[in-house]
Amino acid sequence: MARNSILKFQYREAENRLLAGLRKNTDGPVSRYLNRPISLKITKYLLKTSITPNQISFFSFMLATVGAAFFFIDGYLYLAVGAVLAQVASVVDGCDGEIARLKFKITGFGGWFDAVLDRYADAFLLLGLTWHVWSADGNFLVFFIGFMAIIGSFMNSYTADKYDGLMKRKLDIGKQYFRVGRDVRVFIIFVGALINQPLSTLIFIALLMNTENVRRVVVLYKAEKNDIDRVIRRIEEIIGKSSVPEDPVHSRNTLEWLLKFKPDADIALRIAALGHDTERALEHRKVKRRDYADYDSFKEAHAEKSAKVLAGIMKECNIHSELIDDVVFLVRHHETGGDPRADLLRDADSVSFFQVNLPFFYARNGVEETRMRCRWGLKRLSSEMETVVEGFEYENKELSTLLENSIAEYRGISMVMHPERNLQSDSGHHVELSATSVSTQNAHRV
Ligand SMILES: [Fe+2]
Ligand SMILES: [Fe+2]
Repeated sequence: MARNSILKFQYREAENRLLAGLRKNTDGPVSRYLNRPISLKITKYLLKTSITPNQISFFSFMLATVGAAFFFIDGYLYLAVGAVLAQVASVVDGCDGEIARLKFKITGFGGWFDAVLDRYADAFLLLGLTWHVWSADGNFLVFFIGFMAIIGSFMNSYTADKYDGLMKRKLDIGKQYFRVGRDVRVFIIFVGALINQPLSTLIFIALLMNTENVRRVVVLYKAEKNDIDRVIRRIEEIIGKSSVPEDPVHSRNTLEWLLKFKPDADIALRIAALGHDTERALEHRKVKRRDYADYDSFKEAHAEKSAKVLAGIMKECNIHSELIDDVVFLVRHHETGGDPRADLLRDADSVSFFQVNLPFFYARNGVEETRMRCRWGLKRLSSEMETVVEGFEYENKELSTLLENSIAEYRGISMVMHPERNLQSDSGHHVELSATSVSTQNAHRV
């Protein structure tokens, strides 16, 4: 007997835990404290039947629609009956997901079907309420208020996906967050209609839903800006610790050149310009020249690794995948170019190399290696950028001469191989160099 009681207790305990696990962190306050406790009890009984989640979704929709139909009839009694049906439908609407999760019947279609029916139910309820007010006082303005309530509710559902996604990423799993959604909306209709205040209810829903939508837009805008600031800080932090002394200056300088070439450069280009060499700053991940047969494959591996490092940083900072993919593409191609934006980054990087990095490179590697590096760097420059580099002078006169000679030698080769090169521009973007603030005749001495 005692053993039976223990088993029963354990069964109930397990059952309660299972049902409690069906609460979602996207549940709004009404759902959490009113609808969910009731829907879980209904689910307990529905589990014993063969009713499917989609059938429950449809039943809930029908209940709400019948409720909305009552709103179209004059008189408080019909308003009150419609209100009760709408709230009951909102409670039952929780059961479809609970059954689906318990019976492992979650499908993408089921969730979507439920959402579609909910939108129709919302529209019918609000239109019914609008009609109820209009038939009593005949003022057409109520249709505008009703429209604002409906569009605000629809946009509330439209913004929910991105807002919920952000909140789930920001919060620990299982934590609740501030959410004004359908549960609140239907509950306001329920209470407002019960106290016979249909007009005030409509005005309140119109204001609340649209304010909530504006709030979500602001929250998402700030969050994205914040995430991008975090990426930039992280890149600067990593590059600031680089053992390659010119890296921090080169990173900022590449961004400066990029903005001189294209002042309205998009955020992906800016991140790519700042972080294109991040790999070099991480000692344990650094791609070593000696491990590669030629300079091109070394640079290719370096670009690939930098792209990977940046992708990791951006993922950590919750950046959306389209932006990550864009930055990864640009950084992968920062040494070679490939499309107009990647070419722009390559040019900014190349010019900055000659302006900032070359003296450090020369000090570390000597004349021959520097000559080779100059040739390699000139090869990737567009003819407009060649003119910019030509104006660079260094404190070390030998280095200035070495660059001059390399350019002269390169032009000799270039003219033989590409006679058209000096006749026309070959970079897709046109920069009025004389008009930029960069003094090409005596650029920063480095
Ligand atoms: Fe690079
Ligand atoms: Fe670079």
